[in-house]
Formats: sequence, structure tokens, C-alpha cells
Amino acid sequence: MAGQRPRIGILTGGGDCPGLNAVIRAVVKASFMRGWDAVGFLNPAQTMELDYKAMGYLLVQGGTILGTSNRGRFAAKTGAGEVHRIPDEILREAKANVDGMGLLGLVCVGGDGSLTIAQQLFEAGVPVVGVPKTIDNDLEATVMTFGFDSAVCCATDALDRLHTTAESHSRVMVLEVMGRHAGWIAISAGISGGGDVILIPEIPFSWEKVCEAVARREKAGKRFTLVVAAEGAKPAGGSLVGRSGGADREMRLGGIGALAAAEIEKRIGKETRVCVLGHLQRGGGPTSFDRLLCTRFGTRAVQLIADKQFGRMVALKPPDTVSVPITEAIGRLKRVTVDGELVGTARALGISFGD
Ligand code: F6P
Repeated sequence: MAGQRPRIGILTGGGDCPGLNAVIRAVVKASFMRGWDAVGFLNPAQTMELDYKAMGYLLVQGGTILGTSNRGRFAAKTGAGEVHRIPDEILREAKANVDGMGLLGLVCVGGDGSLTIAQQLFEAGVPVVGVPKTIDNDLEATVMTFGFDSAVCCATDALDRLHTTAESHSRVMVLEVMGRHAGWIAISAGISGGGDVILIPEIPFSWEKVCEAVARREKAGKRFTLVVAAEGAKPAGGSLVGRSGGADREMRLGGIGALAAAEIEKRIGKETRVCVLGHLQRGGGPTSFDRLLCTRFGTRAVQLIADKQFGRMVALKPPDTVSVPITEAIGRLKRVTVDGELVGTARALGISFGD
């Protein structure tokens, strides 16, 4: 590759999330400042040159210009925590590809699944660095993933809106938010948006206790109640609500909100409606907090490549960004601590977890 400027690669994997483009922009601009070029992987076989001059609007643009997928031959997770090893021949192909392109390093932006792949690529000799992404905030080894704040702001805004209609109609409103294994979005938005009942995967609940909380409010003269349910919440002894995601895919969660609404109406006769926030909380641009976090993560990822610190992931450890081995982030999830400060804050306000 004589005469060519040094180049690095970047790819985005897993479910999309606000801020992916902001990370791409930061990586491309920080590379340019070092005299490097950057190339984006649209898929393992297709790339696009990333021109630093075209990066401006990416700071605010949702989604990822590189596209992303949580299925296919590079999927490392298939639900219930099982990790599939990427076949050696595919790993060898990927390494040959990166070597052939003369890349100094490859920035892998993703959550637990994509970073599991990144680690396998690293072990196969690919010079990888990771950037932690997921709206669910359930990745270990970083205080926060990017995209989480944007999702929480979206859910909080939804609660503000549901609040006024719930109060006007004296209804129970149930908001179902994402959060497959961890209830970070539900508890954070629930507290910020004035929720009364918060159902999270970490705390099995009972319908009796949920209804008791609604009835208690009625008795106190509060004729409306806001319930926030993470999609992965389930009653003690009950099962997750959703349907099969198809072969080699995690279960597609959804429906706990509708179930909660039906149970509340059936058990105490209180008029109840449900709103499923769904992919609205994953779409759109990042909040200013996430723009800043993505920019810090992206620039640090480039620094890691410059320092040849491969196999590491950037992470937030306030007040700084740091780096940790990717292995510290994958294979286990960061969940809401049941007796932690956040749950304690909610309980101190009288918020019920239905337990
Ligand atoms: O990645 C996390 C997540 O947001 C989960 O909370 C949710 O279950 C899942 O993505 C939905 O993914 P998909 O868009 O593939 O249905």
C-alpha cells in the first residue's frame, strides 16, 4: 500500500441506536486530524470511503449510514445468553480482508452481541477496538452506553404526554418501553416522568401488588396512575411476553403492557389504556448528552488505534472516558441493582415495583 495514506475501518452492528452516526463522525474527523483516511463497512464484503467533509450533519442524524443488522452470519448471540462461535473460515476471511485493505485498526461499534464478535475477530488477529452501544444500557464495564440517554428522554417525554391524558380521563395509562434483560430505561424514565408503578425484569412482580398500588392512589384521591413496564418484565413465576423471533433469533418481546392493562381492568375495574413506545425510542437523533458521549467515545477509539491498544473497548468512568479489555464487557449483563440507589430513590417516593 505504498504511497497510500494510513486507513482505519469502522462498522456498526446490532440493533440501531441514536448516536451511531455521531460516533462515525467523531472517528472519521479524529482520523483525518492524524492524517488518516477512514473506510466504513456496510457489510463484511462492501465498504464505503468516509469523507471527513461530509460528516457535518451526522452529529444529529439518527440511525447509521453504514446500516446494521442483528442477524446473519456475523450474529454471535441467539438469545438466552448462548454465544455462537463465528466459524473459523469466516474469521480468517475477515482478517484477510482487513489485512488486504491495509487497515491500521477496525472500530467495532455495538452492544453485547457485536462486541462478542469483535472479541472473536481480535482473537483471530484483527486489530479491533470497541465502542459500547445500546439503548438498553445493559453492557458491563461502562457506566453508560451511548443511545441510552436518548431513549430515556424519549420515554420521559412520552410519560409527560400520557400524564396529562391520564389525569384528564382519570385512567391508568401503561407505557411499555424496551429493556430486554435490564430495566434501565423503565426505571430512569419512570422516575424522571413521574411514574407510579415501574415493572422491570430484575424485580418479579405480582398483579395483586400492581393493583394495590393503583387502588392506594385512588384512595388518596389520585384518580390516575402511570405504569411503566419494561418489555422484559414478568410476574413472579410467570414467563416473558412476546413471540418467537424465528430461527437463530432472540424472542421478540412485546405485550407485557397490554397484559398489564387487561389485568388491571379485570381485577379492579379501572379504565386502563396502553401505549407501546417501541422503536420510537430507538429512532431519531441523539440528545446533546449522547452527542457528547459519542464524540468522546469516537475520538478515544481512534486514540486506542494510534496506541495499538487492540482488543479494548472505550468506556465511561466519570468524569473520564477510559478503556477496558472487551472481555470485561461481554458475556454478562449490567442489570439494575435490586437494592441499589435508583430503586431506593423510587421506593422513597412511594413508587411501586409491584413486589
Ligand atoms: O437492543 C436492544 C433492544 O432495543 C431490545 O430492548 C429489544 O428487545 C430489541 O432491541 C428489539 O430489536 P428488534 O428491532 O430487532 O426487534
